[in-house]
Amino acid sequence: MAITTLNIPIERAEVSKIEQVDFDNLSFGSVFTDHMLVCDYKDGQWEPPKIIPYQAISLEPSAKIFHYGQSIFEGMKAYKDSEGQVWLFRPLDNFKRLNISANRMAIPELPEEYFMEGLKTLVKLDAQWIPQKEGSSLYVRPFVFASGKGFHASPADEYKFLICLAPSGSYFSGKVKVLIEEKYSRAANGGVGYAKAGGNYAGQFYPTQLAIRKGYNQVIWTDDHAHEFIEEAGAMNIFVRIGDTLITAPTSDRILDGITRKSVLDIARDEGIPVEVRKISVSEVVEAAKNGSLKEMFGAGTAAVISPIAGFGFKEVDYELPEIEDSYASRLKKRITDIQFNRSEDKFGWRYKV
Ligand code: PLP
Ligand code: COI
Repeated sequence: MAITTLNIPIERAEVSKIEQVDFDNLSFGSVFTDHMLVCDYKDGQWEPPKIIPYQAISLEPSAKIFHYGQSIFEGMKAYKDSEGQVWLFRPLDNFKRLNISANRMAIPELPEEYFMEGLKTLVKLDAQWIPQKEGSSLYVRPFVFASGKGFHASPADEYKFLICLAPSGSYFSGKVKVLIEEKYSRAANGGVGYAKAGGNYAGQFYPTQLAIRKGYNQVIWTDDHAHEFIEEAGAMNIFVRIGDTLITAPTSDRILDGITRKSVLDIARDEGIPVEVRKISVSEVVEAAKNGSLKEMFGAGTAAVISPIAGFGFKEVDYELPEIEDSYASRLKKRITDIQFNRSEDKFGWRYKV
């Protein structure tokens, strides 16, 4: 990244809330640090970012975010190593993806310097909020939304870019069970599935509620055309292991190009694991579950890290996965978290010092 002269103004919180937080019992994304980054788009340009105390924001009722859902976000984590040094994982990839999402949602692209310098300055300022407990981390949520007003169904003329930080525990508690979807769709060709657009998540809530009522944690989305192929889950990309081969679906218009997914692919290849990036039919997975060759399924994502899947449901039938020693999921999780927490060599150059 270019050396920068950006000097981000900081208005410090008068009193820190940190003493009120139980760092031993953190849920995911429900408490927030003392500060946040704010950056406004007005008169055709992004204004320089500033850091202010974490607080509510005021918007016009006609702000276009409320009516037309023009909003995008990112997710990453900050980690503290045993010496107290702070690290991010591939943050430039999050920046690039944010602008891919921005383009698709007709939101003006953010300058790299505002994102990267803003991120670093904020994480440094609130670094004492990074949990030290294994499995916990500081979840970083950059997001952009249409704050400009008006009921005309067209892109807004004003936007806000914010970054908020949330010390967080694991995304899932307990075993993860997924339902392979055969009716609803998350995304379509030519649509916005590849963007991290807020509406992609809102659209999943109802089918996911139905799945939760049946005892599952997440839906595995299938292609919108015939529900024949496995795509991804609500908050993570999906990997299956059939025999010794690790398989994941190729990215497309309909699938989020996950940073964890591509890291897992690189690490798996480096480990000598046979890897295939190809379409995975539901019938292949069901058949493999029946004949015992389906050894593992797991989700990969920033929030989910690597989450082993204990079983899946399809057409009212439940399939359990075996518990295996030295699973790919545990090997890959160790490799990736060791890089993130600065416990191992970073041969791919993914770690980013804050
Ligand atoms: N797929 C969806 C729909 C997601 O929301 C996420 C989470 O960000 C992922 C996949 C995984 O992406 P990443 O590894 O970049 O966090
Ligand atoms: C992430 O993993 O960062 C995500 O954005 C998933 C989110 C739905 C919690």
